[in-house]
Amino acid sequence: MAPPYPLLVLYGSQTGNAQDVAERVAREAARRHFAPRVLPADAYLPMVAHLPAEPALVWVASTTGQGDPPDNMRQLWRFLLRKSLAPGSLGSLRAAVFGLGDSGYPKYNVTAKKLFRRLEALGAHMLLPVGLGDDQHRSGYEAALDPWLAQLWPALRAAFPLPAGLTEPAPTDTATELVSKYRVAWLSGQEAAAAQQAAEQASGVADGTRCAWAAHAEALAAAAQFDRVEAAASGLPLPLQQQGAEGQPSARAAGGPATTAGHGAGGTGYGPHHPYWARLTANKRITAPAHFQDVRLLDVDLGQSGISYEPGDVLAVVPQQPAAAVEALCRRCGWDPHAWVRVEAVLAPAAAAAGEAASPAEAAQGSASSGAVASACSCTVRLGALIAGALDVNGASPRRFFFQVLHQYVRGSELEEERLAYFSSPEGRDNLYEYNQREGRTVLEVLGDFKSARLPLEWLLQACPRLKPRYFSIASSLAAHPHTAQLAVAIVDWATPFKRRRRGVCTSWLAALDPEAQGEVRLPVWLERGALRLPPSPAAPLLMVGPGTGVAPFRSFLQQRQAALLAGEVPRPAPCTLFFGCRNEAGDYYFREEWETMQAQDVLAPPPGGLVTAFSRDGPAKVYVQHRIRERAAEVWAALQAGAYVYVAGSADKMPAAVAAAIEEVVAQQGGMARDEAAAYVRHLELGGRYQVEAWS
Ligand SMILES: Cc1cc2nc3c(=O)[nH]c(=O)nc-3n(C[C@H](O)[C@H](O)[C@H](O)COP(=O)(O)OP(=O)(O)OC[C@H]3O[C@@H](n4cnc5c(N)ncnc54)[C@H](O)[C@@H]3O)c2cc1C
Ligand SMILES: NC(=O)c1ccc[n+]([C@@H]2O[C@H](COP(=O)([O-])OP(=O)(O)OC[C@H]3O[C@@H](n4cnc5c(N)ncnc54)[C@H](OP(=O)(O)O)[C@@H]3O)[C@@H](O)[C@H]2O)c1
Ligand SMILES: Cc1cc2nc3c(=O)[nH]c(=O)nc-3n(C[C@H](O)[C@H](O)[C@H](O)COP(=O)(O)O)c2cc1C
Repeated sequence: MAPPYPLLVLYGSQTGNAQDVAERVAREAARRHFAPRVLPADAYLPMVAHLPAEPALVWVASTTGQGDPPDNMRQLWRFLLRKSLAPGSLGSLRAAVFGLGDSGYPKYNVTAKKLFRRLEALGAHMLLPVGLGDDQHRSGYEAALDPWLAQLWPALRAAFPLPAGLTEPAPTDTATELVSKYRVAWLSGQEAAAAQQAAEQASGVADGTRCAWAAHAEALAAAAQFDRVEAAASGLPLPLQQQGAEGQPSARAAGGPATTAGHGAGGTGYGPHHPYWARLTANKRITAPAHFQDVRLLDVDLGQSGISYEPGDVLAVVPQQPAAAVEALCRRCGWDPHAWVRVEAVLAPAAAAAGEAASPAEAAQGSASSGAVASACSCTVRLGALIAGALDVNGASPRRFFFQVLHQYVRGSELEEERLAYFSSPEGRDNLYEYNQREGRTVLEVLGDFKSARLPLEWLLQACPRLKPRYFSIASSLAAHPHTAQLAVAIVDWATPFKRRRRGVCTSWLAALDPEAQGEVRLPVWLERGALRLPPSPAAPLLMVGPGTGVAPFRSFLQQRQAALLAGEVPRPAPCTLFFGCRNEAGDYYFREEWETMQAQDVLAPPPGGLVTAFSRDGPAKVYVQHRIRERAAEVWAALQAGAYVYVAGSADKMPAAVAAAIEEVVAQQGGMARDEAAAYVRHLELGGRYQVEAWS
């Protein structure tokens, strides 16, 4: 039999969605007799000389920040943009691009669009138009993915004919062959006792010094070990696997989940595998007691960590899952959370071959060899700690793949078998979206609904969403609060269309922390560079638009300017205006006194400018920050003419696009420009770093 055709699947993913799509592409490709290798795009950089010789490439890329590529594809993207690359250099490559984005953003799916054009310009034969997944679609990005894949398979087949004697599924068949990435051994007797003893020594139990946050630390340590196994099982090149082993964040960072601009900003080396255990010294509600929404101001003591941040930076926090949730999951699956397990990476043949291979041809040759190759990479961990640290069982909704896996393990219930088969199929996509994502169903709940499914641990590890760090814009300045990072945290608490109450994983944990009553409370944190940066000159005016907790980074900006002003470092204050939006003047007008003091000190421009509020629910009609921007068109235009920097932060939903539209309107109206000229003007601001956005969902 001829060896299968190699298929390179690269992804650029900030929060894991594009990685999921890439893995799905690879699973479906394997069923169609391709030999896929899935890698975060930057992990391919050391092998980039082989790119022209790759027969086929599928690249899945999300867009993040203000229309930026995700961190784990930036280097390869930069390489591909080199002017020295000849136009025909990818002339033998068949390529396809699928993008993930959100049409609420002004730069919708811009990474995938640019990538498609660049590959085409380098001569790649594009197999089909760029696919554009949209978070705003009622069925999420899968609404575009399914039809795109249905076109991809015939296009690939036309280029790579089916070897004789093989059959293949229909283009719309999205079932996948289940090939496990892990092998699990349940330890007993001496092996388990030895593992336990080693862990106790490491955590200080043996000498009686176990700290209050030991369970959380054990969970994170187990997750870090599992990251390394995951990196090996995914066929990441050895250097990236080793970085994971050394406690650096690369395994998880390169593999996908969220960052803003690279781990360990501030030069301290802290990251997901080596967080700083910061003391929480205060946790104060900043919304009125009668207001429906709970928003907290947290004081995080950075102590002697050496972490030094700039205004606009972001603190990453890894949440702790409730022990009850982990226990409930173990009970449901019939496992003992205190059991010790060894998890081994099982390399898929193509990944194994790719790890060793010098070229795509060698990888394909190697991949023809039968059977999985067991890697030397394994971790030995306590089951409860592994689940608590690595898997999000109580918050995130599982992906469709989870339902496909579950379907394989249903025993004795025709009804559940049928329902899972339907959910796993393209026809069931919309109903799955309603049941799963819209209702915020968790893994624990799904397992509760499908009681007859007996999911083995290796499959839970492969199909369950990973527990991810959360990011918070720092709401203070070191100049005003030495050694401290303050965070303004909105406690997530919402109701689904069927009125099921949902709480955020991280914020519900944070809300329950009480340093006064609970003694020493510590959070695992590290610093990330944020998207917002103060202008180089303190003389530049600022226009800051921050509804809700979006005001956090601007408190940091303004505290910094206030400190500089009071210290006499800045002779004359630059005019600064804060557009702040909240629901009610009496309910959630955070930091009111501080803004008023800053206005009195000329840190914010004097009234009627300087501090502009939009209370969305105090009047008969909604008033948002963008309305206020339009009302103050002349002042906004004057500030822009004077070189103002515009900053927007807060909910990613519709606000950033609405604010951008308002600014464009102001520019058109006040500057006497046509709409497209005004758009070009704002684009020019962006390119010059004078229009910056940090948004989150
Ligand atoms: C760069 C950056 C900076 C950030 N800064 C801040 C900050 O300063 N302050 C802050 O509070 N947060 C901030 N966030 C958001 C923060 O990281 C978390 O995402 C947020 O706190 C929720 O985390 P959680 O674990 O509590 O919720 P999760 O368990 O992750 O649940 C959140 C999810 O629940 C769903 N959801 C929530 N509300 C609703 C709703 N009303 N309707 C429908 N679905 C809903 C959405 O799917 C949402 O993604 C920032 C994020 C980023 C990326
Ligand atoms: N995923 C979701 O569906 C979802 C939904 C809401 C909040 N969240 C998240 O929950 C957290 C809490 O948010 P928050 O209370 O700090 O801020 P927020 O929900 O963004 O609300 C702050 C203010 O912005 C207003 N607002 C709503 N839509 C707007 C728009 N299109 N343009 C301008 N302003 C708008 C709100 O008004 P009104 O509320 O009166 O309209 C409110 O006055 C954030 O992390 C946010 O991202 C998520
Ligand atoms: C902070 C942030 C910024 C984003 N910026 C954009 C953007 O500029 N354009 C866009 O189309 N989508 C944007 N999105 C939406 C993401 O592309 C979308 O959620 C995607 O599914 C994420 O895929 P990933 O998990 O692989 O990164 C943004 C999302 C977040 C959280």
